[in-house]
Amino acid sequence: MRHGNKRPPGPRGTPLVGVLPALKRDPIAFFTEAARSFGDVAYLRIGSQHAYLATHPDDIRHVLQDNARNYHKSPLYDKLRVPLGNGLVTSEDAYWLRQRRMAQPAFHRQHIEALASAMTASALETANRWEAIAERRQPIDVAEEMMRLTQTIVLRTLLGAELGPMAGELDRAWALVNAHVGESFWSLALMDRWPTPNNRRFRRALGVLDRAVFYLIDERRRQGRETNDLLSMLMSARDEETGQGMTDGQLRDEVMTFLLAGHETTSLALAWTWYLLSGHPHIEERLEHELDSVLAKRPAAYSDLATLPYTRMVIEEALRLYPPAWGLSRQAMGPDRIGGYALPRGWLVFIIPFVMHRLPAYWEEPEKFDPERFTPARNAARSKFVYLPFGAGPRQCIGSQFAMVEAQLVLATLASRYRLTLVPGHQVEPWPLITLRPRHGIQMTIEHRAVGTSD
Ligand code: HEM
Repeated sequence: MRHGNKRPPGPRGTPLVGVLPALKRDPIAFFTEAARSFGDVAYLRIGSQHAYLATHPDDIRHVLQDNARNYHKSPLYDKLRVPLGNGLVTSEDAYWLRQRRMAQPAFHRQHIEALASAMTASALETANRWEAIAERRQPIDVAEEMMRLTQTIVLRTLLGAELGPMAGELDRAWALVNAHVGESFWSLALMDRWPTPNNRRFRRALGVLDRAVFYLIDERRRQGRETNDLLSMLMSARDEETGQGMTDGQLRDEVMTFLLAGHETTSLALAWTWYLLSGHPHIEERLEHELDSVLAKRPAAYSDLATLPYTRMVIEEALRLYPPAWGLSRQAMGPDRIGGYALPRGWLVFIIPFVMHRLPAYWEEPEKFDPERFTPARNAARSKFVYLPFGAGPRQCIGSQFAMVEAQLVLATLASRYRLTLVPGHQVEPWPLITLRPRHGIQMTIEHRAVGTSD
């Protein structure tokens, strides 16, 4: 239906700032409520910006895929540019396409297959380190543990290096940058130049990130080692027309993007998976049964993944309930129509996976943790634009296969040996920063599992 020049319905905001205060207070509750109250397209005024919240899969397909050329990442991603620069997540148009083509071969299936054994080996190191922790019955923050593990995997498999003592420093620096950028996400400007103690800490953390990335680049140059990993591909790529390689600044932005985008989201997917499993013993037992009967204590290999369907379904369902990239947004470069409503040039479109993944119109009992939703038959029956953990269209996550293989191998390796239990009374609260983090971490105890007793 065409609505002429009428605006879609939407929440009433205050005269100057529109809906900004409500959005800042609790973005997930705000978007959920707007979707519930106003249907497929809702109009939002956020400060001086006009925006639509799109929740119909056809409109999402239109923006992310069919008419993707008309859209750029919204100005909200400018905040991400502070740490990531103009890398693959934030760049646009011809430059983005050239860089995407350059990086793509590192993510071909055969390439990921070749990296699988390094993923399992890294997970086994964590499993071995957990021995003593399990013995002492000492609680751990599983979000922190997964962050360290996925960072190690990205460094070893894509960037070919170890950071040693710098790894912990990098984790802390990135957590601080994520919180700082995330908390100021909805502010009209990032006031990070003022010399407040907070901003000084932020600047110092950015310095730590830079040091780690330049260390990786310099190490590789110093070694002069020829490999076919992502870092080598980026360093040796030449522009077809000019024959020029990337400048140090361009290389820094891409390496930073892969280092951060390549581990943060996967670690959160795993952390939320452990949390959900701990609250659903039947599902946990079924997962353990699959692992015991297929692997029988053997480390998981790439070739096992086809026979571990339930492991995959558990992760897909965790990505539905807690999508690490919980919200996406775009800006219209030219006028368009969304759900029959005119969308003027410059206006924003919000697409919120967290909201889409729990809409009662598309999901039965949406709040329930139920991996059975992801059987091949049920996947085929569902529009792919209602399940968007990796986005969609040309800007879809380049690392989605890498992440799924990694998450399955890590979960299989660790859940084969251990059962994790949430520390009683520990509050787990989703915290929508750039990514969906657990605000107070996820404190769990680790227990050895006797293989074969799960059924
Ligand atoms: C469970 C894990 C992951 C999730 C949930 C995730 C999610 C996403 C989403 C939703 C986007 C699209 C953002 C948008 O449209 O605005 C994206 C883009 C991207 N992701 Fe991932 N990601 C994951 C893992 C990875 C991994 C492992 C890597 C690299 C090793 C990676 C690298 C990237 C890059 C470079 C982009 C930008 C792609 C482009 O625009 O061409 N991600 N990711």
